[in-house]
Amino acid sequence: MTRLQLQRRRNRFLRAHHDLASLNRDIPLSFPIMSTSFRHEPVLAGEVVTFLRPASGRTIIDGTLGGGGHSSLLLKGGARVIAFDRDPAALSHARSFLSAHTESFAAIEGNFAEAPGVLAGMGITSVDGVLLDLGVSSHQLDTAERGFSFQREGPLDMRMGHSGMTAADLVNTAPAEELARIFREYGDEPRAIQFAVRIVRAREKKPFVTTLELADLIAAGRTGPRHPATRVFQALRIAVNDEVGSLERALPSFVSMLAPGGRLAVITFHSLEDRIVKQFFRKHSMAEIDNPTWPAPRPNPDKMLDLVTARSVTASPEELASNPRSRSARLRVAERITTTKGGAR
Ligand SMILES: C[S@@+](CC[C@H](N)C(=O)[O-])C[C@H]1O[C@@H](n2cnc3c(N)ncnc32)[C@H](O)[C@@H]1O
Repeated sequence: MTRLQLQRRRNRFLRAHHDLASLNRDIPLSFPIMSTSFRHEPVLAGEVVTFLRPASGRTIIDGTLGGGGHSSLLLKGGARVIAFDRDPAALSHARSFLSAHTESFAAIEGNFAEAPGVLAGMGITSVDGVLLDLGVSSHQLDTAERGFSFQREGPLDMRMGHSGMTAADLVNTAPAEELARIFREYGDEPRAIQFAVRIVRAREKKPFVTTLELADLIAAGRTGPRHPATRVFQALRIAVNDEVGSLERALPSFVSMLAPGGRLAVITFHSLEDRIVKQFFRKHSMAEIDNPTWPAPRPNPDKMLDLVTARSVTASPEELASNPRSRSARLRVAERITTTKGGAR
């Protein structure tokens, strides 16, 4: 097959799978047309198993199934696992990867923030553990067609599922102030305003369609150890998937589903998400609350948890060496206490 024929075949593939009719330039030959194999090394795997204590008779919710690595370990420990993911590709992979566990494993498509309602509809109102391993999987990042990577040409999509606004919709329509806020809040990007203005100027000439169009504009010829578009891509992904909103909605509803002694374990990869988890755990684990106008501290009426990890747990040097993705992973775990009507036990 000639180079031109190969190029045309790739473009036909892309148009069939994504609405790229407006793509006005040829996709470079480096564009991979096949999905990468599904591999995702679960981070902090030993720690998750130790803290969630899977065993026969225990039900654990894996809110972020991904490649099924953590679920597989929880199942091996004897637990029943009910898993959620927004990504149909992750679900179909994990269903076949974990097909030996038909009796004890179920995988459901959806946002984990809706999981407690879905579970209640299935008659499950109390569980022994919940795991959230936030963000995207290696497979999603490595699959060019998903549009998460600033290093791989693909449609500027970034949706974990297949519905809702894409990253292209966002960068082509959001006001500059909104883009700057997203880059600052979700990406800690110091040049948030500069990049937002640059994007708004560029899209007036031609809307963004592909990942590299955006990455090249952000980089503007600059290089360095860290690609200049790293933070912008992370921020767009968080905004497109409402990752912060999902986490904020999920935490209280999962805690209310935990049986006494049940544990909630959350792995974050971003300081904003880690702060949300830390503050939530703190608010619901403090024995007492205080106020300068009060004569003395009072029992905390919101106490529902005990902290299992006083501070976040990070990857060991061995894991860091073998799995670079574990570098920014932080795990926090809390345990549900028995509550009486008046508050803590
Ligand atoms: C870091 S990966 C999880 C990897 C998994 N723990 C493993 O061992 O293979 C995150 C996965 O969670 C999914 N995800 C992220 N946020 C979600 C949400 N709010 N609801 C459902 N799935 C979500 C992503 O689609 C992705 O497949």
